[in-house]
Amino acid sequence: MNQSLLSAPSGALKIPYSPATKVVVCDYPPKFSLILPTYNEAGNIKNIIEILSQLLDQYMPGCYEIIIVDDNSPDYTWKLALELTSNYPQLHVVRRVDEKGLSTAVIRGWQIAQGEILGVIDADLQHPPEVLKKLLEEMDRGADLAVASRHIEGGGVSEWSILRRFLSRGAQILGLIILPEVISRLSDPMSGYFMVRRSAIACKTLSPVGYKILIEVAARGCISWIAEVGYVFKERQDGESKVTWKQYVEYIQHLLRLRLSISARFIQFGLVGLTGVVVDMVFLYLLSDETGLGLPLTRSKIIAAELAVINNFLWNDCWTFGDISRRQPGKRQRLKRLTKFNLICMLGLILNVLFLNVFVSILNYSKYSANLLAISLVTVCNFWFNLKLSWRVTEID
Ligand code: GDD
Ligand code: MN
Repeated sequence: MNQSLLSAPSGALKIPYSPATKVVVCDYPPKFSLILPTYNEAGNIKNIIEILSQLLDQYMPGCYEIIIVDDNSPDYTWKLALELTSNYPQLHVVRRVDEKGLSTAVIRGWQIAQGEILGVIDADLQHPPEVLKKLLEEMDRGADLAVASRHIEGGGVSEWSILRRFLSRGAQILGLIILPEVISRLSDPMSGYFMVRRSAIACKTLSPVGYKILIEVAARGCISWIAEVGYVFKERQDGESKVTWKQYVEYIQHLLRLRLSISARFIQFGLVGLTGVVVDMVFLYLLSDETGLGLPLTRSKIIAAELAVINNFLWNDCWTFGDISRRQPGKRQRLKRLTKFNLICMLGLILNVLFLNVFVSILNYSKYSANLLAISLVTVCNFWFNLKLSWRVTEID
């Protein structure tokens, strides 16, 4: 069997930490893997491969691979591509027969890729190949994600209809409303032309919908540095766009699903926080009330709050962030997470005690309503700090 025809992976859409080992063009695996998703690109495929190979042979000879992932195109794009592999040893072809769709094509390509940097470009020459060099330079500078954007300096779309321009901008505004923490980081969230560091998305379960793979990567990956390079989206030279209304509907579905999965964790964290409030209030009563031990308010508060922190940690570790904790098993790891959680909550505890004393002694609130108010103020900060530090939560399953 032609070694350049690779079989399409199946199962979960997860990119492995360590690259797949397969046919290597030289004695070390390529640094950069570029995926071309294709459907009926017979008229463009020879041209794009020639241009990409020339450009990358100049820029990074022997350190890249190109993987075409074709969905069994009726125009036999995959066959034409396969014939090209004899002239381009760094070219591999995947012919998918069962699974369909642009974004899963890209992920399946990344799953069998060997590079540390995983890229995607359209095969119809609407994404100018020369922009690859600038994107790679950004990745070399340390970016986790480098995106070719039509909406920054040097960017633009050629003869797009008013409707398509309106739809693209409209989709972006919708994204800012539904998923601001992701979409606000990208000037062109619809871009299908970008590259990402393997380690930033490795072992994340990706579940894209339709065409928009970039928001999936930006939402689920460990992406701290996003670089953008302007480009002008060109006119097609052959074939036609497969974008239909369906892609726009799928985009909204995708945003809502990501929204839910991000918020789900916050809701769970809030529910756990509620159990912590009960623990805090009950022990504040038992320790500080005359009918209880009658200890001083601050001392009672510190003990009650610490018991609530331990309660919350146990619930969060096995429920809210259980899917991540289970990947970091063992007592030592758990103790490390408890220490981090405690240190972060310590900050919250200090704020809590301060707020409590201010509300009781200056605003004359009862100690119980003051405590409730202080706790709710501190809960939001606690979620954000823990999300970023204790569980390093960036994946959304
Ligand atoms: N394997 C596979 N399966 N490839 C597909 C499929 C599919 O179902 N649908 C489209 N493709 C390939 C096309 O062959 C082309 O190489 C690329 O994906 C883009 O498809 P187009 O139909 O040309 O999309 P477009 O030009 O309207 O929009 C593109 O550019 C936009 C701006 O970057 C897409 O990449 C959009 O996602 C992107 O927003
Ligand atoms: Mn196109």
